Amino acid sequence: MDNESQVEFQIKDLHKSFDGNTILKGIDLELYSGEMIAVVGSSGCGKTVLLNSILGQYSFDKGSISILDRTHENWNLKNLNDFSALDIDDIHRHWGVVFQRNALFSGSVYFNIALWLKEIKGLEDDLIKSIAESALASVDLPNDKQFMEKSSNALSGGMAKRLAIARAISMDPYVLFYDEPTTGLDPASSTNIHELIFNIHNTNMEDGSKRTSIIITHDKDLLSRLRPRTIMLHHGKVHFDGPFDEFEKSRSDVIRPYFEMMPVLHKQMSEDKEVDASLYKRKGLLVE
Ligand SMILES: Nc1ncnc2c1ncn2[C@@H]1O[C@H](COP(=O)(O)OP(=O)(O)OP(=O)(O)O)[C@@H](O)[C@H]1O
Ligand SMILES: [Mg+2]
Repeated sequence: MDNESQVEFQIKDLHKSFDGNTILKGIDLELYSGEMIAVVGSSGCGKTVLLNSILGQYSFDKGSISILDRTHENWNLKNLNDFSALDIDDIHRHWGVVFQRNALFSGSVYFNIALWLKEIKGLEDDLIKSIAESALASVDLPNDKQFMEKSSNALSGGMAKRLAIARAISMDPYVLFYDEPTTGLDPASSTNIHELIFNIHNTNMEDGSKRTSIIITHDKDLLSRLRPRTIMLHHGKVHFDGPFDEFEKSRSDVIRPYFEMMPVLHKQMSEDKEVDASLYKRKGLLVE
């Protein structure tokens, strides 16, 4: 099948509320394998809630999310509700997630990369070591023993972001989710991350499949460089879905003010945003 036309995620009429407060009010989306997609929209509009819904982190009120089930030989779209918890873990083998605030584990750099490779993929130590070395090299981090033994708490913001990306790509994922990958970084580090996202996206899997990248961001420079399919959420719905070129040119009185505000939002995010870390806890090892 043509890789480009294969649906990776199909979201229909998705509704999600918390304590009577409806955040998602009917999201319809089809995301295709091999696409680079940015999800934008004002702070609190539900971007991370949408990501967590796709990740199977919580139940939703109405609608459906179907996912390309890569765990069986005949890939097909399968409703998230029909996956068992074990199946979801299996699906997650094929995804890499760079969480808002990185969600690194306490422990060494090596441990951060090794944990999922060991526990989710069940790989042997020697193989894990060589994967860790090449993942660190591909994000331009040192990959010697001394660096790998360094505590993740001792890394700068830019290095921590790189480590979060190295951890995600070490799983050799079909799908990469990035939630605010450049917040808190200086312009030079941000530019490096933009290039990294671009390069990872354009490095095919071993079997020749293209990767799908889904980037939640307020970073206008990232959008200008990568020019992804752009999806804007507004008032719980998809307000815009199209090429970045059209988004950028739009005169819509919803898009225009958001577009102008993006640099401010991007900066604010790094300064005062608290993240609900409990959602990201895996094995109780999270550091924030
Ligand atoms: N676990 C939760 N319990 C209660 N409310 C929640 C929970 N998670 C998210 N919300 C609420 O849902 C709304 C959307 O949150 P979300 O984190 O998706 O925003 P966002 O679009 O990612 O914003 P930002 O750009 O600031 O990251 C917010 O009002 C938030 O308080
Ligand atoms: Mg968010």
